[in-house]
Amino acid sequence: MLVVLKVGGSVITDKSRPFSIRMGVIDRVSREIAAVLSERRDLKLVLVHGGGSFGHFVASEFLRERGAIDAEGAYVIASYMDELNRVFVGSLNAYGVPAVSISSRGLFYIDENGVITGYVKAISMLLNRGLVPVLYGDVGVAGEGLGIISGDAISWFLAGTLGADRLLFATTVDGVYDRDPSEPGARLLSVVRLSSLSSIGMGGAHGMDVTGGMKAKLGMGIPYVRRIGEVIVFNGRRRGYIYKVLRGESIRCTRVVP
Ligand code: IPE
Repeated sequence: MLVVLKVGGSVITDKSRPFSIRMGVIDRVSREIAAVLSERRDLKLVLVHGGGSFGHFVASEFLRERGAIDAEGAYVIASYMDELNRVFVGSLNAYGVPAVSISSRGLFYIDENGVITGYVKAISMLLNRGLVPVLYGDVGVAGEGLGIISGDAISWFLAGTLGADRLLFATTVDGVYDRDPSEPGARLLSVVRLSSLSSIGMGGAHGMDVTGGMKAKLGMGIPYVRRIGEVIVFNGRRRGYIYKVLRGESIRCTRVVP
């Protein structure tokens, strides 16, 4: 069973404050992952995490001041993302998860049409040797210049290319809503069809987000969704939910279908 789990940057950091890590959440997520891996020996897990108040904050500062990500912007964003990743991987290792860090900027790039491409062979071989690769939203080559390779794009691409059984998005909301979830009367959708994405409201990005909100997250899945067994968006802030979803238990969530 091959599973790709994307842990949103706002799950593990506080997006309202630059460089603020939610250490308690990171440790809980690590404990839940460790518990499932000790029970399910056949589980091959790829983890991807987002930028939250690290990558998004620095990237939005550079974009605001310079209008683009230049070489200086790239190494500053890269070093902050590496720092956040080190904390996450360190926590996973402390709970006994055989997690190893993989930097996307050396594997993937965004082509001139805005599509992610790259090499996944080494990742699947690491999985076959019992390791848990941990990737993260990153800075890297984009078209003629440099840009952000979002954790969502990496997750869809990896899950689609490796033919994952499940792609799980841990976010800070319970799933996909019929309008911005902060609006009164917003209703959680149990299933969302990517073919009818344009007709759903669901709201845009919030705060210091340089890679778009829920709609962007889902829209980039269209080329990959048919090659993935099951795609779920759920709330990774709810205690026990990562454990439950990885075990295949039913939780409050949205299923994403073609
Ligand atoms: C963004 O990755 C990475 C950088 C800004 C460098 P994501 O777009 O996947 O991050 P989150 O999950 O929304 O925070």
